Amino acid sequence: MRVVILDEKSDVDRRAGQILAQQIQTVPDSVLGLATGSTPVGAYNELLRIYEAGEVSFRDCTTFNLDEYVGLPPDHVQSYRHFMQEHLFGKADFEPTQCHLPCPNIAQLDESCEEYEARIDEAGGIDLQLLGIGTDGHIAFNEPGSSLASRTRVKALTQQTRTDNARFFESIDEVPKLAVTMGIATILEAEKILLLATGENKASAVRDTVEGPISASVPATALQLHPKATILLDKPAARLLARKDYYEQVEFIQRELEQNDALNHH
Ligand code: PGA
Repeated sequence: MRVVILDEKSDVDRRAGQILAQQIQTVPDSVLGLATGSTPVGAYNELLRIYEAGEVSFRDCTTFNLDEYVGLPPDHVQSYRHFMQEHLFGKADFEPTQCHLPCPNIAQLDESCEEYEARIDEAGGIDLQLLGIGTDGHIAFNEPGSSLASRTRVKALTQQTRTDNARFFESIDEVPKLAVTMGIATILEAEKILLLATGENKASAVRDTVEGPISASVPATALQLHPKATILLDKPAARLLARKDYYEQVEFIQRELEQNDALNHH
């Protein structure tokens, strides 16, 4: 896992937006895996800034979001469809038919989950998957205890996740109890993964993810198995990492190598 520690959240936002833009500039018909929550909003804003400067277009992109609540209508202000429309899709030249979110069909949940997986396959798989992380170590809504081999399915949300997300609703009672989420195995099939974590409240989940043993109890630890996973952190989120100095040194060397064409060609 490539661990990049930046000074502030605004640095994480900027770097993440640039990585997303670079992906699309290099492969205009990229398949992007997208995330909701408060963390990626700054990255989306940076991406939109680059779009408004005329340096990137989403016309040929296909997107798949990680998850969606079960039981909220798509136009509900807290549905993830609505979130994506507000923060990204509605502000740029995305082709609406190419922007996918799990669509929980309560009457046929298994079928709608299988169909989502099939759509990702038909699109050729995800090139770059963006992730946030829960304070309980979840990625997407793969809560602690999720099988590391899981695929898109319905999960019950933990009390900790419902409490964390209550800030977006009038009260905790309104936070849905179920969600449809890509599984851990679905996420691991993405060619590249970019996890963002900022703020002191993510520090212990980040430490467990990067330095703890791989375990279903901390689903994000599965990213240790991925060959191209990068985690962008601000200093507060990196605070509990034991090998912080080492990651900073490695990152310095990595960037030197990337800037040195000659070395890259050997
Ligand atoms: P947050 O949520 O970005 O709102 O902190 C992240 C997550 O639960 O994956």
